[in-house]
Amino acid sequence: MGSGYLGATHAIGMALLGHDVVAMDIEKEKISLLSSCELPFFEPGLGELLRKCMESGRLRFTTSYDDTVEADIHFVCVGTPQLPGSLNADLRWVETAFTELARRICSPAIIVGKSTVPTGTARRMAEIVRRHSSDPRVEVAWNPEFLREGRAVEDTLKPNRLIFGVESPHAEKLLRAVYRPIIERGCPVVVTDCTTAELTKVSANAFLAMKISFINAMAKICEATGADVLPLTEALGYDDRIGRRFLGPGLGFGGGCLPKDLRALCACAADLGLDDVALLIRQVDSINLSRRHRALVLGRELLGGTYVGKRVCVLGAAFKPNTDDVRDSPALAVGVAAHAENAHVVIHDPVAMNNAKRAHPELEYAETIVEAASEADLVMLLTDWTEFIDMDPELLSTTVRSRNIFDGRNALTPERWHAAGWNYRA
Ligand SMILES: NC(=O)c1ccc[n+]([C@@H]2O[C@H](COP(=O)([O-])OP(=O)(O)OC[C@H]3O[C@@H](n4cnc5c(N)ncnc54)[C@H](O)[C@@H]3O)[C@@H](O)[C@H]2O)c1
Repeated sequence: MGSGYLGATHAIGMALLGHDVVAMDIEKEKISLLSSCELPFFEPGLGELLRKCMESGRLRFTTSYDDTVEADIHFVCVGTPQLPGSLNADLRWVETAFTELARRICSPAIIVGKSTVPTGTARRMAEIVRRHSSDPRVEVAWNPEFLREGRAVEDTLKPNRLIFGVESPHAEKLLRAVYRPIIERGCPVVVTDCTTAELTKVSANAFLAMKISFINAMAKICEATGADVLPLTEALGYDDRIGRRFLGPGLGFGGGCLPKDLRALCACAADLGLDDVALLIRQVDSINLSRRHRALVLGRELLGGTYVGKRVCVLGAAFKPNTDDVRDSPALAVGVAAHAENAHVVIHDPVAMNNAKRAHPELEYAETIVEAASEADLVMLLTDWTEFIDMDPELLSTTVRSRNIFDGRNALTPERWHAAGWNYRA
């Protein structure tokens, strides 16, 4: 249920494991693309696997709930975005999916939530199922997903852990059977209750977010004291209790998962009266968002104090490289903010342009880096795609109006840019 980034990838993964899979979505256009072997989103390596599964006959797509009724196991992979005007997750799609399934299933199937949800959701879904299903043996389980966009194929076929939130030995047995080839290859399995399973995913995301915001907090201290956050990061990273990964000072995190999961956790902690926990999580979010404002300020400084009438080339629209996902993208947020300050913003991204145009038709888009940088007063590298990191400063010098570059990801080699006569800020 749900054939977006998570659901389509999971369906393909399940078919590759040898299961017969029906993948459902309420969006007709998405299902029509998938049915003709086309991915509705960008994910390296996944298109080829989709074709392989369709050829095998083990995977098909539908928009009808009725086509899914006969399954032994149902995975709910629908979206759980932030509720507008609130920190909470909007669970209406999860509720609809469980309700529609429960109304139709009349055999002892299991409905497994994979969407990332606040704790207590599985318990509520079990009540919905009890209320609507004619078969009292229908069960609810939770099996949170840890795949990363851009690496979804590897993460799905070779996950580093499987979490089974179950309320009966039967549900555990069925999940173990479904994932058998992966478990036999040595993937660890943590079996727990549904509430703990829900929380494993949310806390993993909160921890990763906290690591990014922690190093950005240190970046703020470095800026205020004249220290250098890059050697500091390197020095911290050598300590294997800390580790180098996710310790990247810069424009911070975004996307369809980390920010909204963090906010839902904050709301959950506040509802539970755990104000100190809510405060910790809120600060992680707030430090992260402050980096977008800081990027805007540094860009303005490079422009001599104002964006008004200046041409700004924004490199990056996706929230991170190797995806076309622009949900809560820091790059787009900075581009939009510069536009609001009356800059003429031109954006280029290797794969996320269509999604960005849909989200922000008011901005201008260019097909190449050089076209986007043409006559620019400022170039802003905001998503660290390899092609941006590899840009030639000499070549770019010939197209811009002024050689000002803001490196929002600490991704460039400043010496190269200085040597080519650029004003470089990061
Ligand atoms: N994208 C990721 O990398 C990732 C990783 C781990 C977990 N998650 C979690 O997975 C969930 C889905 O995320 P996503 O990125 O795939 O979102 P998405 O928006 O790409 O996909 C969600 C899909 O669900 C469909 N849908 C909504 N209601 C439906 C219904 N009643 N029946 C069938 N389909 C329905 C939508 O049309 C949409 O295509 C979220 O909870 C997210 O936090 C996502």
